[in-house]
Amino acid sequence: MRRKLAAGNWKMNGLSTDMGEVAALPTSLGVEVLICPPATLIDRMVRDPNTFVQVGGQDCHPNPNGAHTGDISAQMIADAGASHVILGHSERRQDHGETDALVRSKIDAAWSMSLVAVLCIGETEAQYQAGETLDVLRTQLAGSLPDGAAPGNLVIAYEPVWAIGTGLVPAMAEIEAVHGFIRTELATRFGTDTADGIRLLYGGSVKPGNADEIFAVPDVDGALVGGASLKAADFGAIITALDAAG
Ligand code: 13P
Repeated sequence: MRRKLAAGNWKMNGLSTDMGEVAALPTSLGVEVLICPPATLIDRMVRDPNTFVQVGGQDCHPNPNGAHTGDISAQMIADAGASHVILGHSERRQDHGETDALVRSKIDAAWSMSLVAVLCIGETEAQYQAGETLDVLRTQLAGSLPDGAAPGNLVIAYEPVWAIGTGLVPAMAEIEAVHGFIRTELATRFGTDTADGIRLLYGGSVKPGNADEIFAVPDVDGALVGGASLKAADFGAIITALDAAG
């Protein structure tokens, strides 16, 4: 039985004055809620007595420490009290040239600190138009997932790059086919029991207005939400929709 997960990726947004948005989220529902704020807010969010969410980082360096100005290690994220870290987000892949091999080494680093890795995969618009989606996802999974994936250390987010921040969302049948494909790929490599336990999130323009239909799709165990996770009114509605999806 996979517990539903509503995850918010604040990206490069969020100041101390935004903490009230977390405190205002619904708390007594049967779904897990994770927020990945900028690194500057991790400690504050972990310690805030008014928040009940799990807290994650948005990236980590493969090394535990060293001369890497501006980077943050998995050790530091864990030390700040976070339990998760997003890795392989398309904005990291695009803005920082991250490869599957680098993402894989970051997941190893996250696991060495007992952080749950939230691995993001997804095709670009050109790849989607060319019908290459499943090939791209197969390559990303094979290249970025280390051995040892388990329900307790991994969440996978399918985020079509063309759906991020655009208001565009694939057809529900496409999301269903892709999530089914990811689970089958996981089963081939890690076995059916492991594959059946790993949560698969959909990400890309999830809003209160489309959450119900997305959460009704088989093999969608929750969402990784960007823009709509910044305001409690929107993210709260998404959390409530996920809870209602059962
Ligand atoms: P949006 O929800 O803003 O489209 O962002 C999705 C995303 O990239 C989450 O990681």
